[in-house]
Amino acid sequence: MSENIFPLIRAKNLSKIYDGNFTETSALGGVSFDVEAGEFLAIMGPSGSGKSTLLHILGFLDKPTSGDYYFEGKKMEEFNDEELAGIRNKKMGFVFQSFNLLRRTALLENVKLPLKYAGIAEKEQDAMARRALAAVNLPEETFSHEPSQLSGGEQQRAAIARAIVNNPSIIFADEPTGNLDSKSGEIVMQTLQKLNNEGNTVILITHETFTAEYAQRIIRLLDGQIESDNRVSNRRFNGFIK
Ligand SMILES: Nc1ncnc2c1ncn2[C@@H]1O[C@H](COP(=O)(O)OP(=O)(O)OP(=O)(O)O)[C@@H](O)[C@H]1O
Ligand SMILES: [Mg+2]
Repeated sequence: MSENIFPLIRAKNLSKIYDGNFTETSALGGVSFDVEAGEFLAIMGPSGSGKSTLLHILGFLDKPTSGDYYFEGKKMEEFNDEELAGIRNKKMGFVFQSFNLLRRTALLENVKLPLKYAGIAEKEQDAMARRALAAVNLPEETFSHEPSQLSGGEQQRAAIARAIVNNPSIIFADEPTGNLDSKSGEIVMQTLQKLNNEGNTVILITHETFTAEYAQRIIRLLDGQIESDNRVSNRRFNGFIK
């Protein structure tokens, strides 16, 4: 199958029902859309509308209850677990609201972790981790610091460095600016925009319209359904991008 014919991502009628002890929650009720390689897509919608559920399915962290998810033209269920893990480790990077950095562990070591999982030779890990930290504009003197010695914005940039250290082609970010002041949030968004300008696909969840306007396209979810899917006409660009 050629990547020229198939979009990077095709979601077809995805639904997700969470089974509780006494209740079932329908988090997604039939969601369909394509994402082309190189797009910067924002997913918006109120709390509980299914945004994280959708992102987890797209990132192979969870499976839909029904519907089909095609990744590079191939149905998700046709990949075995090893292939799914391989794609996740090599092609996908994840950034979460709560940074998820290991405490009492230097930034450099935090950023090396995905390389260890991916089986990258130890002697290459250091240079790759340093490159990723430099790419998010963290100064070298912070590399040996533990997360608690950094500001929230710096921690989030370190989390982005960890997400991109493997050179993934898709970056999934779930409310990456949710815990940040507006200045730090802006720097994080500029970092994601730079990665997108370099050809990577970015799929971002956000509550804030200001943040979503860094994207080219906004999908709005409401009660597990797509309410709208629009191009952003007044996309934010600014001077950071080199
Ligand atoms: N693991 C789970 N088990 C049961 N129900 C869940 C689970 N995860 C999410 N849900 C439910 O599914 C619905 C969608 O949740 P989801 O986390 O996708 O929403 P969201 O749009 O990301 O919300 P928020 O903006 O608050 O992060 C909610 O009703 C939520 O309570
Ligand atoms: Mg969420």
